[in-house]
Amino acid sequence: MKTARILTIICFVFLLPATLFAQQNKEQFINTLLSKMTLEEKIGQMTLFTSDWDVTGPTVRSNYLEDIKSGKMGSIFNAYTVKYNRVLQKAAVEETRLKIPLLFGYDVVHGHRTIFPIPLGEACSWDMAAMELSARVAATEASAEGINWTFAPMVDIARDPRWGRVAEGAGEDTYLGTQIALARVKGFQGTDLSKTNTIAACAKHYAAYGAAQAGRDYHTVDISENTLRDVYLPPFKACADAGVATFMTSFNEINGLPATGNPFLLKTILKKEWNWQGMVVTDYTSINEMVPHGFAKDNKEAGEIALNAGVDMDMQGAVYYNYTAQSLSEKKVKLADIDDAVKRVLRVKYDLGLFDDPYRYLDEKREASEVMTPENLAIARDVARKSMVLLKNEKNILPLNNNLNVAVIGPLADDAVNMIGSWSAAGDGKKATSLLQGIKARTAITGKVLYAKGCNINDDSTNQFAAAVAVARQSDVIILALGESAAMSGEAASRSDITLPGMQQELFDELKKTGKPIVVVLMNGRPLAITELDQNADAILEAWFAGTMAGHAITDILYGDYNPSGKLVMTFPRNVGQVPIHYNMKNTGRPFEANNKYTSKYLDVPNTPLYPFGYGLSYTQYKYADLKLSKSKFAMNDSLRISITVTNSGQRDGEEVVQLYIQDLVGSLTRPVKELKGFNKVMLKAGESKTLSFTIDADDLAFYNRDMVNQAEPGMFKVFAGGSSISGLEGSFELVK
Ligand code: GLC
Repeated sequence: MKTARILTIICFVFLLPATLFAQQNKEQFINTLLSKMTLEEKIGQMTLFTSDWDVTGPTVRSNYLEDIKSGKMGSIFNAYTVKYNRVLQKAAVEETRLKIPLLFGYDVVHGHRTIFPIPLGEACSWDMAAMELSARVAATEASAEGINWTFAPMVDIARDPRWGRVAEGAGEDTYLGTQIALARVKGFQGTDLSKTNTIAACAKHYAAYGAAQAGRDYHTVDISENTLRDVYLPPFKACADAGVATFMTSFNEINGLPATGNPFLLKTILKKEWNWQGMVVTDYTSINEMVPHGFAKDNKEAGEIALNAGVDMDMQGAVYYNYTAQSLSEKKVKLADIDDAVKRVLRVKYDLGLFDDPYRYLDEKREASEVMTPENLAIARDVARKSMVLLKNEKNILPLNNNLNVAVIGPLADDAVNMIGSWSAAGDGKKATSLLQGIKARTAITGKVLYAKGCNINDDSTNQFAAAVAVARQSDVIILALGESAAMSGEAASRSDITLPGMQQELFDELKKTGKPIVVVLMNGRPLAITELDQNADAILEAWFAGTMAGHAITDILYGDYNPSGKLVMTFPRNVGQVPIHYNMKNTGRPFEANNKYTSKYLDVPNTPLYPFGYGLSYTQYKYADLKLSKSKFAMNDSLRISITVTNSGQRDGEEVVQLYIQDLVGSLTRPVKELKGFNKVMLKAGESKTLSFTIDADDLAFYNRDMVNQAEPGMFKVFAGGSSISGLEGSFELVK
């Protein structure tokens, strides 16, 4: 023990000065460089344009090479490969006066070339190590192709499945979304941004973009500051505390102020209250969009609003590029703000090691050897399997025996391209594996594998039904791949009707008439209202858009090579009329009572969802017992230990996500009926039991009160622990002053 203490002191004595020296060195370097810069060069560092290699927004420019050479743009996005980026970097560091290297940004959201499940799918794994590894592989591949900055993770809490961008996030829960945001930032950035296989991450979209009214993308957000701080900001705060290099502002307004021109969000909270030293970039032309928002009379005024609010870099808007010099001369903006913005940009470049070696991310050997490797593909397959959620398994029809004759049917049954989902950047869907290909590749299968498309994803044709029915009649079981196209979720892809598109339900109904058991595999980017499938399918596996290895991963589950362990991170409504519906809503003054008319309910649908947050089945069963609390009451400066025993009472090994929820029964503001406060994914062999412990303290029970102070309040609480947000054992405790 003594030795350890001595070593700690030695480290502290020697390491601390070195860290401080390095920090001083960095600031000295940046201040010296800043002192040499002209105003035009400073504005250039605050300017980001897209290349024309990929289009991710409404406008594209082509003369970016000239802008780079003139020092009028200091960063570029949607550019990749070593060959292409070397030309651009050479222009920046060999043809400009101060030779400041470029940042190369790209939306590496769930993989670069090896594509992982969409983030909403990955989140259903509840496996932080898996999600960190996924981001790690993405960073390795992206940095091997000249990218040093990703516009990810998207950490928007989302409770409305009409919104297409739920596909990019981590679902409806703040606590889980925060853990996942941290895992992804760590995966992208590692512990040292100057390493060539780590890239700068970007917490987006700041803030509350997921609260868009009616689930319509870019729509108005009108929420209380309490809701903003309790629900939407914690994942961003966690990213800031974890040292995420950049933030991206969101398109939406919040309570009348567009996020891109919101000093409360950017200066008061992010840069002052959280003391975050990173760099804020806007979303695509979101400065310009303050004009249609009705918040600026023209682009020049929008630029002044953004700069005064704390925006450091203008993505694609060319507003700082065109107007900031004039705004400064008119004293509409301050040189101090320009200098602060430039320093924040230069710090990111410095931390990435670009001033030491601007070509450090441009290594042809890495590009040739580190992309889509067998190891990366194997990791993608494993993460995909962990992401899938078994929603129904009547009479344990799954897993399938190898000797069964299967009819693989559906518009997505032999579709590889859609498997990589939205925001798949440099991914190539043609290199993905379809479900049919995955099944055919499984050499252990001795039964016949038949195929028919049955219908298209989203049109009204039924002319393929007959062929599908004919194939179904020759089988023992139907594997029916239904869902959306990748383009039906992601950005600018909201849907007012979240049922199966096209004639897919009708195809199901025709196949049902054959009397053959039907295993539905869902491939989608959002929760769908699939009440009829739930009533009539024999099994339903939520596979999401599972990435490059989708077909293999789904096959691994269908045939039992992997026991499904995923749990939903977003509620599945019975119909879109229930939306917004999430597990942590308020109790109201008239909570539902079946035999009381005057209570909060619908006339035509229950209040309960089709599938709740935290729900997911397994090929085995788990039983919960012995919920124990270390004390019945504890003080603000104390903590409570909660333990519960979970047993795998089935015949197969499996992984279970044990979830811990609390309910604050009485507060100075009303509190949700339940809030996730802990979880633990454990492997249990058949028959094995494990006792899991969770520690709760006052910080875990805190919320923003009417004085906007984040604190817990004394009173009674309930505890729920189990395998979903609606099952498990219940206890209670008191928090005392
Ligand atoms: C898009 C998206 C944002 C993305 C950016 C750059 O409009 O909103 O998530 O990172 O533009 O492609």
